[in-house]
Amino acid sequence: MIINNELETFIKQVKKEALEMDIPIMEDDTINYIKKYIVENKVKRILEIGTAVGYSGLNYLSLDYDISLVTIERDENRYLKALQNFKEAGLESRVDIIFKDALEVDINDKFDLIILDGAKGQNINFFNKFKKNLEPNGTIITDNMYLHGYVNKDEEDITSRNLRALVRKIKDYHNFLEENEEYDSEILKIGDGIAVSVKHNNI
Ligand SMILES: C[S@@+](CC[C@H](N)C(=O)[O-])C[C@H]1O[C@@H](n2cnc3c(N)ncnc32)[C@H](O)[C@@H]1O
Repeated sequence: MIINNELETFIKQVKKEALEMDIPIMEDDTINYIKKYIVENKVKRILEIGTAVGYSGLNYLSLDYDISLVTIERDENRYLKALQNFKEAGLESRVDIIFKDALEVDINDKFDLIILDGAKGQNINFFNKFKKNLEPNGTIITDNMYLHGYVNKDEEDITSRNLRALVRKIKDYHNFLEENEEYDSEILKIGDGIAVSVKHNNI
């Protein structure tokens, strides 16, 4: 489903560079799941929190010519690199990269799919802020639900206080999704754990 071989090669290069520069990007299984989801559900409009250098976004846009992306990044160097990457890929006309903290961004458009891949402790806030931007029957996918295995560890085995606090926030997000009656959420053991939250169409 990739548009052309040249783009595929470019995306591999972006991935390699991101890993070399220690920029966190989605795991292969996660990217593959989301790509399959986009194709199977005919997703056309995507909102992503957490662009980094555009690796995941390039993957979504590579699937078809009529897919568009709004993606938000608060780190200036990553935002600039993402701009450059989308341009080099020839995809800049289908992407709007917003350089700002997502919690300060107000968007009126609606999206078929919203992907939460920003600061992991902010997921409840991201979810509550952007759920109004979801189409009826739309889906919110959240990455890193396991936080690299830490979510399933005993708290006393986590020595860093900051990490313990982050794990607690992610557990709070698990509970938030479980108790949220507007959405059916499922945690999938894919990559670092992803939550797939489907909005009921009567809300
Ligand atoms: C895991 S990386 C995103 C990876 C990217 N989706 C990919 O797979 O190629 C998370 C990114 O979110 C950004 N970020 C974190 N919190 C944010 C916020 N509140 N608003 C905007 N960007 C945020 C970070 O600067 C970081 O670059």
